[in-house]
Amino acid sequence: MELSELKQICDKCQRCQLWQTRTNVVFGDGDPSADIMFVGEAPGENEDKTGIPFVGRAGQLFDKYLLAVGLKRSDVYIANTIKCRPPKNRDPNPEEQAACLEYLREQTRIIDPKIIVCLGRISAYRIISPDFKITRDHGVFYERKGKILVAVYHPSALLRDPKKKDDMMADMLKIKAKADELSGK
Ligand code: URA
Repeated sequence: MELSELKQICDKCQRCQLWQTRTNVVFGDGDPSADIMFVGEAPGENEDKTGIPFVGRAGQLFDKYLLAVGLKRSDVYIANTIKCRPPKNRDPNPEEQAACLEYLREQTRIIDPKIIVCLGRISAYRIISPDFKITRDHGVFYERKGKILVAVYHPSALLRDPKKKDDMMADMLKIKAKADELSGK
């Protein structure tokens, strides 16, 4: 399947109740053949309005980290564990997450990134392990099915607690260096 076909399917999705309150499906953004794929938690208000992931305050901070390590949004791919905004930004419930996970799996198969970076603990819990502890395990590389999995702090966590910013910078540099190494740069 091509990414555009999967997007068309997602745009019409009614697998969980979130279709009733969404403005836009937030499918993903960036280079469909990127080496690095970032996966956040769920779209917020600005993402729901625009259909683009990470465009609000957290997204703007995230863009700064990309730039700081020499990357642009168009060099990477950005998606979320679920594609529709939960009302009032509540946490996505297990049914909503389960309904959407298959789309993320297919999207990941198509993009076939070398490194999957979970943005925050919710994404790391779903993608890396239910035992994941973000304060303990951020920046650690795991290997699964030939891909590197790693998690960093969610940009919203950095807005709440700026003391985490040094760790974020160190993790992002490490991820960029790994991507360069894997692509023979
Ligand atoms: N937070 C997320 O996890 N994803 C977005 O797209 C925006 C904010």
